[in-house]
Amino acid sequence: MTSVASAIARTAPLYERVSRFIPPFEWPAHARDIDAIMTLKAERNAVILAHNYQTPEIFHCVADIVGDSLALARMAARADAEVIVLAGVHFMAETAKLLNPDRVVLIPDTRAGCSLADSITPADVRALRLRHPGVPVVTYVNTSAAVKAESDICCTSGNALAVVESLGVPRVIMLPDEYLAQNIARQTKVEIITWAGHCEVHERFTPGDIREMREANPGVVVLAHPECPPEVVAEADFAGSTAAMITYVGDHRPAKVALLTECSMSDNVAVHYPELDFVRPCNLCPHMKRITLGNIRHALETMTHEVTIDPAVAAPARRAVERMLAIP
Ligand code: 13P
Ligand code: SF4
Repeated sequence: MTSVASAIARTAPLYERVSRFIPPFEWPAHARDIDAIMTLKAERNAVILAHNYQTPEIFHCVADIVGDSLALARMAARADAEVIVLAGVHFMAETAKLLNPDRVVLIPDTRAGCSLADSITPADVRALRLRHPGVPVVTYVNTSAAVKAESDICCTSGNALAVVESLGVPRVIMLPDEYLAQNIARQTKVEIITWAGHCEVHERFTPGDIREMREANPGVVVLAHPECPPEVVAEADFAGSTAAMITYVGDHRPAKVALLTECSMSDNVAVHYPELDFVRPCNLCPHMKRITLGNIRHALETMTHEVTIDPAVAAPARRAVERMLAIP
């Protein structure tokens, strides 16, 4: 057997899982990379953490741990492999490094950024503090370590309400996602001061999209990520983090469901629920899509790109993330 043929044979059970989303002509190249990645993971003592927005051939075929930002942070903190490959965006890799500084953390493409992380600088946070003296700063994990270092505590979309309410204060600054902050403000008495950052993927959804979708797909259940504008969340049947959406689908099994979020989410969830009809008004995240099997393989072959954080930034940033993780 040629090496490609044996890679295809070895990965056949994996292809069976994802064959609804990957055409047969694409599989030989994936099979070669998957085969090589499996060997490299063992050689390097590496673990692959993949966000829910990664493509099915990553999410279902090479990842050891998958989840939303909160789950990935918790699992990164506990990982005992020597190397952590973060199949996600840069802030997720930085968070892993903050929480497990003795591990080598690799990001397969350093350009995998985030429009929210790019929307704010440490100087912006310092200026906000001057404008609102004494008001604590709650920072979304979708930020650089340098911005986290200026913050009192971090949050994710999965725990933002609990974090805001844990502080026991009447006002907080919540940055940088204006829509997440507004969506949380609707659920709490705490006054929330916002920043005008937006997710370039979720800001594009409109209430009109939902209305059109409901007309075209009677009975569809619409789940939205809280990075969507509040008027979109108001039209949806449920809003929650990527993990909360997956739990909702598992618990309720809606016959027709739309996930207003990044496109790979529906593919990854649909693998587990082939009987459900996923309506797909999704948007691609160009940053998440920078990660491929090819560059994961290259990362493990060359041990690049290693994530490092200036210790002066890492100590206060770690405090903000660990304070978040201490909230049950
Ligand atoms: P989750 O924490 O819900 O996975 O969201 C991360 C993200 O980047 C959403 O755009
Ligand atoms: Fe950032 Fe939005 Fe992409 Fe998530 S989907 S990584 S928030 S740009």
